[in-house]
Amino acid sequence: MKIVLAKSSTQDIKTKGYVVFVSEEQKKAKLEGKSAAEKAIAQKLTKYEGLAKGKNKVTVFRALDLHGVENLIVIGIGKEEDFSAETVRQALAEAHRALASEKIEKAHIDMRTLENFKLDTESLGQAAAEGLVLASYTFDELKGHSDKKAKASKKEAHYELMTNGKDKALERGLKQGQIIAEATNFARRLGDMPANLMTPSILAQEAKNIAKGTDLKVTVWDKARIKKERMESFLGVNLGSHEEAKFIIMEYRGAAASKKPLCYVGKGLTFDCGGISIKPAAGMEEMKYDMCGGASVIGTMGALARLKAKVNVIAYIPATENLIGPEANKPGDVRIARNGISIEVNNTDAEGRLILADALVYASEQKPKWICTAATLTGAIVVALGNIHTGYFTRSRELAKEVETAAEQSEELIWRMPLTDFHAEDMKGTYADLSNLANSRGAGSATAAAFLEQFVDKSVPFAHFDIAGTAWNAGNRFNYFPKKGATGAIIRTFIQMALNEQ
Ligand code: BES
Ligand code: ZN
Ligand code: ZN
Repeated sequence: MKIVLAKSSTQDIKTKGYVVFVSEEQKKAKLEGKSAAEKAIAQKLTKYEGLAKGKNKVTVFRALDLHGVENLIVIGIGKEEDFSAETVRQALAEAHRALASEKIEKAHIDMRTLENFKLDTESLGQAAAEGLVLASYTFDELKGHSDKKAKASKKEAHYELMTNGKDKALERGLKQGQIIAEATNFARRLGDMPANLMTPSILAQEAKNIAKGTDLKVTVWDKARIKKERMESFLGVNLGSHEEAKFIIMEYRGAAASKKPLCYVGKGLTFDCGGISIKPAAGMEEMKYDMCGGASVIGTMGALARLKAKVNVIAYIPATENLIGPEANKPGDVRIARNGISIEVNNTDAEGRLILADALVYASEQKPKWICTAATLTGAIVVALGNIHTGYFTRSRELAKEVETAAEQSEELIWRMPLTDFHAEDMKGTYADLSNLANSRGAGSATAAAFLEQFVDKSVPFAHFDIAGTAWNAGNRFNYFPKKGATGAIIRTFIQMALNEQ
């Protein structure tokens, strides 16, 4: 998508689509009426009584000839007192959706009609770009293989934004928003790809792809190296699969070497059939999304490098399938993690924690400032929070504050969940140090978090985000979410956390 600022001019413009925004309190669009077209638009909106001004309501005036403006699209933004960056994100998402359904690829969007509400210009630009780019995500590359022509004729949207001349701050915001949203769309695509086309090797290649042209360094460990690094808990999950496990390492240095790195770890389970503790057939195809935590971490790294964030960041994505080959983990098998902790695999379907365990040990050894994991870890979090909030777990008051601040800025919905010694107690093993299955009933997401915590150095603050409910099919609650498919959950918050560390 191309988003550019229109050259300021008092002349009429020739355009197929012109977008303006109106609040419920406004009698007409906030146009200054410098050109004949603007005067005509303002007049039209004043005269038209049926104009829908409620939040995300759309009115389209087609086939006009308003001094060069062919179609006028009016987006309602609701009550002015409720105005926030989220209003802008949704309003611009609605604008893109309306333009796309009118098949208008080139359009003008009047940002002046969104100014002078209580939002600084940079945030306005960021939310606007996020709304446009996030709403533009589609996943249809696997459709219409025989019709290459139709595919090639699909044009990239090109939007010119009309502004008041406070362009520097707006441009900064737009650029930041576009980078963040493009990284989110990148991650969504990885999630939506079927498992045969998104294997651990392909996921690793995608991490290299997003690093191209940036200062990101990507290293991929193969099975032999993973073995040499004593990541037996991770490798055990890979044994039932023909596809080789990969350990993806991403590094970005944007600050002095003396500054501790931030660390993200993502679950890169490219398909989870459950292993010998096999999942039911109904809905199993959804387990291609079990690498969404990894995809979100890859997207986060890609965005931070493009934003040239002044922080040091490292990321680890253990990637494997969880299948049923002759060598697969059997219930009761014991594996020793990199830190020497022995684990009884009492349910082969609780594999996310097994692959993250070794990654967390390795991450801790790098002495990061903190570690955040993103994982589609438990069905229990879906029971607890549905697909509205991402549940997160941390024992660190300071890190919780950082998380909350970042999520308030990103406007992603998160909810803090409990994590205590009681949960850790429930993960003790009978024959080994730990069991991957809680020996208690309920609180399955908290016991999973307590298991992960055993592999993090006590001196490193740790937060775990269970995105099993929010990583896909999140109910189209936001108009910039796909109706079905991967959402790119927690990327915007992860990026914001790192930006706040600058
Ligand atoms: N990938 C699943 C978690 C999951 C379930 C994500 C449903 C999204 C929707 C994970 O590997 C898993 O199977 N967890 C088990 C753990 C249990 C056996 C302790 C679960 O949640 O049932
Ligand atoms: Zn599983
Ligand atoms: Zn899983």
